[in-house]
Amino acid sequence: MSLIEQIDKDKLPQHVAVIMDGNGRWAKEKGKLRVFGHQNGVVAVRDTVEGAVELGIKYLTLYAFSTENWNRPKLEVMALMELLVSTISKETKTLMDNGVRLNAIGNLSSLPEKCRKQLIETIKKTALNTNCTLTLALSYSSRWEITDAAKRIAVKVRDGELKAEEITEDIFGSHLNTAGIPDPELMIRTSGEHRISNYLLWQIAYAELYFTSKLWPDFRRQDLFEAVLDYQKRERRFGMTSEQLN
Ligand code: IPE
Ligand code: IPE
Ligand code: MG
Repeated sequence: MSLIEQIDKDKLPQHVAVIMDGNGRWAKEKGKLRVFGHQNGVVAVRDTVEGAVELGIKYLTLYAFSTENWNRPKLEVMALMELLVSTISKETKTLMDNGVRLNAIGNLSSLPEKCRKQLIETIKKTALNTNCTLTLALSYSSRWEITDAAKRIAVKVRDGELKAEEITEDIFGSHLNTAGIPDPELMIRTSGEHRISNYLLWQIAYAELYFTSKLWPDFRRQDLFEAVLDYQKRERRFGMTSEQLN
């Protein structure tokens, strides 16, 4: 039986979040510049998005550039921004062919104008697609997002639009960039690092974490299927006992 056939379609995670890591090391292994790794990471993105659609995953969120990544060498940051524009432009057809709606989270106003424009254009073009929502986390960090939400809530309380006592987890969540998107049930990180790197801290409270040593440019839909299979073998207890669940 192929991997995808082994997956129980009734127990799919609705939302899979991915930390796409290891592009630089992949390039270094080949004696190339880091940018070469980023360029080849695009192939992995395409295959993963298509795999998610094939499987029926409704939300896929990819960590593409963190707030902290601005501290990288200027040339690498510039190359990543260029790659972002050209990739989104070139891959719009793939998104349309697969019924994928593009979305973005993060401090988008900090992106170069050209990036923002391309992003908005493709988001508009794909807005009516319903197979899967692909969210790119760009200039994103979870602490930035949570702080920003707290600020906006504070303003509402100050202006009398909201009472402090009315703030619930749901209200707080609805002020995050991911408002309207269910929390990820599965979070995948490539490259063998076992850390979260400021990604979706609020949203992954009860996500199953899956780590693979594969470097991102080598990641393919089969790896996504393997992660989903592993996820389906886990018992999600949400604080309860095994006996309570059975
Ligand atoms: C992930 O690969 C891509 C981004 C963070 C933009 P890296 O560039 O972090 O590659 P490594 O982790 O240094 O190998
Ligand atoms: C996390 O990868 C950010 C992205 C994948 C965009 P990093 O390579 O920046 O993470 P650290 O610095 O190794 O934790
Ligand atoms: Mg890295």
